Order: sequence, then C-alpha cells, then structure tokens
Amino acid sequence: MFNSIRSESSYKFLFNGKWIESKGRKTLPVRNPSNGSILGSIQSMTIEEANEAILSASASQKSWAALPMHQRAAILHKAADILAASQELLAELLVKEVAKPKGQALDEVLRTVILIHETAEEGLRIRGSVEYGDAVPGGRNDKFALVERQPYGVVLAISPFNFPINLAASKIAPALVAGNSVVFKPSSQGAICGLHLAEAFNQAGVPAGVLNVVTGSGSDIGDYLTSHPGVGLINFTGSTAVGLKLKARAIPLFLEMGGKDAAIVLDDADIELAAKEISAGAFQYSGQRCTGIKRVLPMPSIADELIHKIVAEVEKLKVGLPEDDCGITPIIGDPEPVQQMIDEALRSGAKLLIGNKRQKNLIWPTVLDNVTPDMKIAWVEPFAPVLPIIRVKDENEAIELSNRSEYGLEASVFTRNINKAFAIARRLDVGVVQINGKSARGPDNFAFTGFKASGIGSQGIRYAIESMTRLKTTVINLKA
Ligand code: G3H
Repeated sequence: MFNSIRSESSYKFLFNGKWIESKGRKTLPVRNPSNGSILGSIQSMTIEEANEAILSASASQKSWAALPMHQRAAILHKAADILAASQELLAELLVKEVAKPKGQALDEVLRTVILIHETAEEGLRIRGSVEYGDAVPGGRNDKFALVERQPYGVVLAISPFNFPINLAASKIAPALVAGNSVVFKPSSQGAICGLHLAEAFNQAGVPAGVLNVVTGSGSDIGDYLTSHPGVGLINFTGSTAVGLKLKARAIPLFLEMGGKDAAIVLDDADIELAAKEISAGAFQYSGQRCTGIKRVLPMPSIADELIHKIVAEVEKLKVGLPEDDCGITPIIGDPEPVQQMIDEALRSGAKLLIGNKRQKNLIWPTVLDNVTPDMKIAWVEPFAPVLPIIRVKDENEAIELSNRSEYGLEASVFTRNINKAFAIARRLDVGVVQINGKSARGPDNFAFTGFKASGIGSQGIRYAIESMTRLKTTVINLKA
C-alpha cells in the first residue's frame, strides 16, 4: 500500500501527486531513538524544490476549493479508511520512529482516523451568515452583507515529532476540507510516519499538487518556507523558540507551542484520583506532550498524602522499550539539559522522591518535592519525565503561580467542590481548565487554545477549520 513512497535507498517526497527524489541527491538519516539504528533516510530537499512545492500547491488550490464540499469530504473519509486499514503498520512505525509505547501508538492512529472522519463531517457544516445594515445612524435597509468562510490559499503545515500522525492530520485535514492546499513539512524525526500519512491522502484522491510534502532540516529550509510569499497561513506545532520567531512574521499564524500546565490540588480533593491523573498526565509518553502536567501545586493539608500517592503511582511505571509497551521510553530530545535542570534543583534544595536515574536518553520518571519559584524547573518545560512539586500556602498562591508562567496552555483543578472549581477555573490564564482530570488536548473536537506563549488560534476540529479560513464579506447595495 505504501510501496511508492520509497526507493531501495530512501524515502521520497510527494510533489504534484508523484513520489520523487531530490535533485540535490542529499538525504537525512532517521534513527530509531531506542537503539540508534537507521530506520531510513528522507530527502534533504533543496530551496528550489521547496519553492516548487509552494508554487504547485498555489496553482492547484483554486480548482480544489471549487469542488463541491461533499467531494472534498468524501476524499477525507477515504483517507481515514486507508489509515484504519493500515493501523498496525502505522503504530509499528510510531514505536520505531518516535519510541511511542505500543498501546499509545495504536491510540494515536485510531484517534486520527476519527479526527479525519469528523473533520469531513464538520466541513459539510461550514456556514456563513447574513448581516443587515443596522449599525449606522438611522440604519440602512438598502444594504446587506453575505459573510462567507474562505480558504487562505496555501497552508504551510509544520508538525512536531511527538504526535507525528495526529498533529499532522489535525493540520492537513481541516486545511483541505476548507479548500486550502497544503505544503506539509514534518519534523525530521517523525517524517517517515508523516510520509505515510501524506500517501493515505494521496491514495484517497487528493488531486495532484493540493498536498505537497517538503522534507529536510529546518535549519536549511525552515526560514525559506516560512517567509515564502506564496504561503497564506502557517500552522505550526513545535517549540516556543521557533513559534516566537514566527510571531515576528507578517502572515496569518495558527500556532501551538509549549506549556507548563499546573495541577492545583485542593484540601477536599479525591486524593487517590488526583494522584493517578497527575502521574498519567505528567508521565504519559515520558512527559513529551505539550499538555503534560509539568508542576503540582498542592494545598498544605493534603500535600504529604498526595505526594506519597503520586510516588506510589510512579513506582508502577515500566521503564524500557516502546515495543514492550513500557510507559517510560527513550526521549527524542537532548537529555543533557534535562539532567542539568534536575541537578540544579537538587543543588538548590529540592528533594528527590524518586528517579534521577538515566541510561543515555532513557530517563527514569523523576519527582522532586520542595521545588521553589526561584528554581529553573519551576518554569521551564523539560519535555521529559520530570515532575516538580511546589508546595503552596493557599489557593491564591496556586493561582498566582499558575498564572505567573509565560505559558497559558492548560491547568487542572482537583476538588470535590464544584463551585470552587468553577471559581478557580475562571481565574486561571490558560486555554483549557480540566476539573478533576489530567490536562489533554483530546478529545480532538474540543476547543484547544494556547494563551500567552502557548499559541495563537484554536485547535479542535470545528475550531481548526475556522482558524484556517478567513471571513469574506460581500455587500449587496440595493440602491446601486
Ligand atoms: O503534545 C501535545 C499533544 O497535543 C498531546 O495530545 O493532550 O490529547 O494527549 P493529548
């Protein structure tokens, strides 16, 4: 099913409906993070090829947008069916390419199948509106306006390594259904998964040029792509450093960046539940989720019991290989800065409760108590299995610390008092508040909006379609 995407020696890139190799004859190796072996090589495309990808996407966009919506939706449904039929193969690739535990890998593929089907359905419900000429002195009954949602043109979709299928499809599918064409640049780690996803759309019948893929190192072609005048909107998920660089560009942006989600645990919380959710939220996929719980802020009366229970949960986590479905697997990023952050916290008085053990990029789940706001680990996102606990004196201090972060992605509040939960939720400067649950982007139809340095625009199927369309107004002047 995916034979055309590779030659004997390397994976190709999708250009104008065909899988081809770069004329520059340069490739980049993609390694298995668990053992360093080379999984395959991707094309290191030239600037000229990146340019051609954008020009071809631009040339094919208008006829794609002119297709009736139900035809675009039908193609998306077919792509989802192709993914579903290939779920085992794709899950295995996620295990090998990004060290995702087997169960979570299959879950990523299946949630993506649902995401694409739902996007097709939601596309059919894109509606405009009619406005009347009231908001002028005296009113104007001789004019009215039709407000429609129109595509931006070419969407540059840049996906990260951690959810290389789901976070790529959550860009490509809504962009396509809304009538945009897409130039898809996957993160190099995760690109092999991304190429398979692109082929699913290609086989489903996305016309030539409407989805082109660009592979290569971000440092070679990233700036070129993101400043290309043919791009109508950039949809990026990845590091805050890159996202903030994009913010300087005068182009429509749809960004998801980092987070430092806090779990606030009140006196009356179900401590058992809170401990389980916090452990799952902090350590799922070894802490490499933008939505991971990245600090715990417990009230004094329950702090000891909660911490004891969190550690008991962490002790249950299996550390090892993704093939064995271990919860904690080798991380993709550089482990050195993570180790430095742990060491620095310990030197400054944090107390190690569990972990701080490492074999190369395999980091044992680490919980640190007595972390204080002057420590780097209280504010920086490790993207690794490290959980700091910052003991607070009351709810106000917890809210203040949550809000003091440069990020504003999510926060969790654990309490049995629903009124209090809502009152605190309203004071938290984040895009999503979870009451009695771990922070998460999914289910993929929920609105997910990064605030402050966490992002721009809203994800979540319907909201992503809205974020990748612009309002166009046509005014009818009856007097004319
Ligand atoms: O890395 C960020 C992803 O959006 C995580 O997705 O929170 O639904 O697991 P999730």
